[in-house]
Amino acid sequence: MKRRTFLATLGSLPLIGLNMDWAQAATGSMPAMDMMNMGAVAPVKLAAVESLGAGAALNDIIKLANTSGQPGLFRASLIAAPVNVPLLPGTPTEFWAYNGNVPGPLIEVTEGDTVEILFENHLSQATTVHWHGLPVPAEQDGSPHDPVAPGGKRLYRFTLPVGSAGTYWYHPHPHDNTPEQVYRGLAGIFIVRAKVDLLKDIPERLLVISDLKLAADGRIAPSDANDEMNGREGQFALVNAQRQPLLQFDRGGRERWRIWNANSARYLRLVLPDAGLTLVGTDGGLLEHPVTGLTELLLAPAERVEIIVDAGTNKGRVALVAAPYQRGKMGDVAAEKALNLLTVDFSKVAGGAQKPLPATLRRIDDMGSPKAKKRIVFSEKMSMAGGRHSVKFLINGKQFDMNRIDLESRVDQVELWEIANESDMDHPFHIHGTQFQVVEHESDGKVTPAPYRAWRDTVNLKSREIVRIKLAHHFKGIYMFHCHVLEHEGAGMMGQVNVV
Ligand code: C2O
Ligand code: CU
Ligand code: CU
Repeated sequence: MKRRTFLATLGSLPLIGLNMDWAQAATGSMPAMDMMNMGAVAPVKLAAVESLGAGAALNDIIKLANTSGQPGLFRASLIAAPVNVPLLPGTPTEFWAYNGNVPGPLIEVTEGDTVEILFENHLSQATTVHWHGLPVPAEQDGSPHDPVAPGGKRLYRFTLPVGSAGTYWYHPHPHDNTPEQVYRGLAGIFIVRAKVDLLKDIPERLLVISDLKLAADGRIAPSDANDEMNGREGQFALVNAQRQPLLQFDRGGRERWRIWNANSARYLRLVLPDAGLTLVGTDGGLLEHPVTGLTELLLAPAERVEIIVDAGTNKGRVALVAAPYQRGKMGDVAAEKALNLLTVDFSKVAGGAQKPLPATLRRIDDMGSPKAKKRIVFSEKMSMAGGRHSVKFLINGKQFDMNRIDLESRVDQVELWEIANESDMDHPFHIHGTQFQVVEHESDGKVTPAPYRAWRDTVNLKSREIVRIKLAHHFKGIYMFHCHVLEHEGAGMMGQVNVV
């Protein structure tokens, strides 16, 4: 895909309302004909996978320039607007993008910095910019409570405390249309650098994996009933908006990769044959100690990792693969198949054996004993109301209601949250405004303590699994928590905690 900096003039192209009535659209295992009879959006003809070229050199992510001359202050503006990108011969593809870039530009700051982003909404829908994972005050969080109207603007301003270094992202979070705005291209990345980073000499690579469902006519395909139910997975899993790009591995034989799962719903079970994979960081930054010898890595939607990749015995080209992962999809769905995300070329590697990594990357203290307890239950409810199959996605038996506070917490108080997935599908739990520590997983009565201490804002729950986490919020106000399969969030699998 060719990146364009050209911003389409607002209104130059008709924007088609593609959202459908979820309750009418959701089906169990109905064939396409029945879905059409129901008035749902029928599956459209998709572009052939080969219609996007593969094998081009991996793009770097464009960086958002800091216009402030003041030390400790990052100032810039972001504009969400439609942009036309020529992907297929004939009709250009209209994306919605931040500053004309898919993915959105990298915001790179240092812990302790103050960030000021002037945001302008040139879309035809209300939107927000949500700072996923960052410890920001509730009124700066870009939650559904603070929409920016079409044509409107607002200033986001927050200071990122020391200790918040990590790998984050930003995306829209309006009350409606979050899934659509993200699948049309609105998602960008955010890195908070540490003042002291023991891995800073290792060449770094940023890999943003995002979904694209492209119709044969060049439009971004609307979501069909299956997407609404299982979460949207297009025919493309792009890396930095490219299909199967080529990553020329560093000559020294070692790289640090930050990987974002920016997909709406696709899980990434990442496998890189014969290379040494070492996990060094999660959503909220570096681990205490590197976790070596990994053969694969599961990244649920919205999760990020930092890994160290050693060339190992590799000399030639190896594919980074998203291996099949069963997440309990419902209905009549295609079998999971492996996807090549990226080709890594190790042929120019000159370095020999690698030095061991530092044994300790930083200190992460245990959060201490919880002072309160909460329980969250994810469930699905099938119904046949009105002769139609439908599935509801619920938290504690309810669909999201913006006017209802579901839970109350005390500022700075450590709590134990028990999250139980009583449904048949995996769901990634995410909470706004803070990072948590996973304590343990429980499956079939068997409890497995977290193998290492890490800061996260997203954790996957397999079907029937229970995960216990420790968390604290450090600002007062209302924060969302939800399933990060965006179609499930959009269908109401979301709740609100009021921090007092
Ligand atoms: Cu990326 Cu409400 O989240
Ligand atoms: Cu978030
Ligand atoms: Cu879900």
